[in-house]
Amino acid sequence: MSGASTLSVRVARKAVEALGICTFELVAADGRALPAFSAGSHVDVHLPSASPGEIVTRQYSLCNDSKETHRYLIGVLLDPASRGGSKAMHERVAEGQVLQISAPKNHFGLAHDARRSLLLAGGIGVTPILCMAERLSITGAQFEMHYCTRSRERTAFHNRIASAGFADKVQFHFDDGAAAQKLDIGAILAKPQPGTHLYVCGPKGFMDAVLGAARAQAWPEEQLHYEFFAAEVAKSDSDASFEIKLASSGRVVKVPKDKTVTQALSEAGVEIQTSCEQGVCGTCLTRVIEGVPDHRDMYLTPEEQAANDQFTPCCSRSKTPLLVLDL
Ligand code: FES
Repeated sequence: MSGASTLSVRVARKAVEALGICTFELVAADGRALPAFSAGSHVDVHLPSASPGEIVTRQYSLCNDSKETHRYLIGVLLDPASRGGSKAMHERVAEGQVLQISAPKNHFGLAHDARRSLLLAGGIGVTPILCMAERLSITGAQFEMHYCTRSRERTAFHNRIASAGFADKVQFHFDDGAAAQKLDIGAILAKPQPGTHLYVCGPKGFMDAVLGAARAQAWPEEQLHYEFFAAEVAKSDSDASFEIKLASSGRVVKVPKDKTVTQALSEAGVEIQTSCEQGVCGTCLTRVIEGVPDHRDMYLTPEEQAANDQFTPCCSRSKTPLLVLDL
């Protein structure tokens, strides 16, 4: 292992899991046990990009049994619109290679007081959901899982799920399959029950459809759990410049319309720790003391965004000419 915040891992196995999806089995480079993790955890993987010297960081959920300490398993979809992460994993990472990753972090944990769990996975969003299903199955909890993919050949972990002890709790839904097997989101989410928790992970369109339907059916926000990935940060031609004031020193930094808050602050010598830079992970979360942020993230809940007392400076902007930050 290396420093406190990163781990050196070796790619022990790289395998094609489904069309366009590879799995990577990561073991500690020094052969020791890896830090423990819980279902829903992810690691940041630091990857060399195509531009020499540049490192890109991407989050991948762990999809092996959370009791294992000898390996982490991640699944990576090759995204044709990749900004470098999935392409680097598929094309430039090989067995035997040593990578730097973070220790596991969990922003998508299981609610321990749940009486029943409804797990919905879209495409590669199955990785944390599968880990949750295995955990719930081991603890004998009540759950049901729905897994939507474009086609059988693009369905990662199909065999692992079909042969699992909990296979009878899982329904597959293929976009190219018969109408009768398609996911009926409205029916599944009808009548939210106290104690039933919903977990959803997948592409943005899938997440929006599921969360939109849940909110329309008046699911309480605390029973909704979700994790976005590969987010597109909304940029608009109408993005304007604004100013940031650092509460500790009173210093004011201008954020031009073509720069993010973290970029502008970094150029002014103020570093904020970031990871995804897409408003997904929450690493950069910063307290807002005055002003109204223009939230562009998918990390905060609608209620947390409405409170306007924190924001994600890697992608969010300001609705007021000045934001005073707790920095
Ligand atoms: Fe991930 Fe800002 S760095 S939300």
